[in-house]
Amino acid sequence: MTQIDITSRFGDYPIMIDSGLLTDLHNILESHHHGQKWVVLTHAEIWDHYGKPISDVLEKIGIHPVIIQVPVGEESKSLTRVERVVSSMMDHHCDRSTWLITLGGGVIGDLGGFVASVFMRGISYLQIPTTLLAMVDSSVGGKTGVNTPQGKNLIGAFYPPKIVLTDPTFLKTLPVRQVFSAAAEILKTAAISDSVFFQEFSLQLSDYQKNPSSVHFSKAIISACRFKAQIVSQDEQESGIRRILNFGHTVGHALETFYGHEHLTHGESIAYGMLCAGYISYRFGKKSGLSIDLSTTDWEALKEAICKLPLPPLDNLNIDSVLSIMKRDKKNVMGMGNFVLLEALGKPVISHQVTDDYIKISLEQL
Ligand SMILES: NC(=O)c1ccc[n+]([C@@H]2O[C@H](COP(=O)([O-])OP(=O)(O)OC[C@H]3O[C@@H](n4cnc5c(N)ncnc54)[C@H](O)[C@@H]3O)[C@@H](O)[C@H]2O)c1
Ligand SMILES: [Zn+2]
Repeated sequence: MTQIDITSRFGDYPIMIDSGLLTDLHNILESHHHGQKWVVLTHAEIWDHYGKPISDVLEKIGIHPVIIQVPVGEESKSLTRVERVVSSMMDHHCDRSTWLITLGGGVIGDLGGFVASVFMRGISYLQIPTTLLAMVDSSVGGKTGVNTPQGKNLIGAFYPPKIVLTDPTFLKTLPVRQVFSAAAEILKTAAISDSVFFQEFSLQLSDYQKNPSSVHFSKAIISACRFKAQIVSQDEQESGIRRILNFGHTVGHALETFYGHEHLTHGESIAYGMLCAGYISYRFGKKSGLSIDLSTTDWEALKEAICKLPLPPLDNLNIDSVLSIMKRDKKNVMGMGNFVLLEALGKPVISHQVTDDYIKISLEQL
């Protein structure tokens, strides 16, 4: 088993990663069980697959959890849903000692983490990520939250779990589009952390294209978690270095809003966003007053890896609309003027000098 520890002002916590970890759940939870109530927050589809083995293993230490199921999709990340989950927990006589287990992807993790942060002013929770995106990204770093009609994740809290249990065997049932979408997020982490990790993961994507069942992502999950853990431990509240994790997200976020995430998933959007940020880093660089110059070799490698992802075409792209969404996002989410560029693979730089024109030209080459 690999354990990665995260430093947090709420108390440090471990991410445990291993195939088959789920069968060991009782041993991991035994020291945390003092007869309190446990709740599992999940989707019916996930519980149908994994409910029986999880119930069986929890039963070994006398845990009979309350199961709360919410519909799949972003719509479950809402204040209305928070209220319903909280009510259901009240109906089951949950109290401050209750532990919540989030079993699912980023939607369940974000919603459940937020519920845990507000239920009776904060209860303990445990994340069991079941999508690749949740394993490498949303379960690492303690960001929780829900959406409002005005935008995504506008209500939330930094509230980390007590433990994250990552078992890559969940990925066997994950649809291929979800895997590729999360692969974009892994490419992002690799691009800003380590050129060797980048090359290795790019090769793995070729293997996955040929034969999905032959590829195990355990090593990539560990590398991605380790890097993100190191960054969020230094800057939990995203006031400094954590912003480099937004590589590809400034433009990606706007494309995701423009097309809607049914047409373009988050990962697909940021894959396009990375192409824009990479292109700006390569094409404009020092000769245009930016502080960096991405080499042709690194730009080609970035492009080649991203093009291994089966991205939907950007039909009817309206660049002006995307730019105005980006400006709104910048104020709300990204912070003015923070554009992450690449000096080289593994060397991100935060720039305040990226103009609308550069972004426009980068969108035109997509
Ligand atoms: N908190 C953070 O730091 C952070 C970071 C990135 C993304 N996010 C959030 O994460 C969310 C996206 O998460 P996601 O991509 O995991 O999507 P998701 O949670 O919606 O899950 C995608 C789909 O996969 C299904 N599924 C989950 N596990 C499965 C499995 N093992 N087998 C078969 N099907 C399975 C789900 O039922 C769902 O239909 C967004 O809301 C985003 O804002 C949060
Ligand atoms: Zn992302």
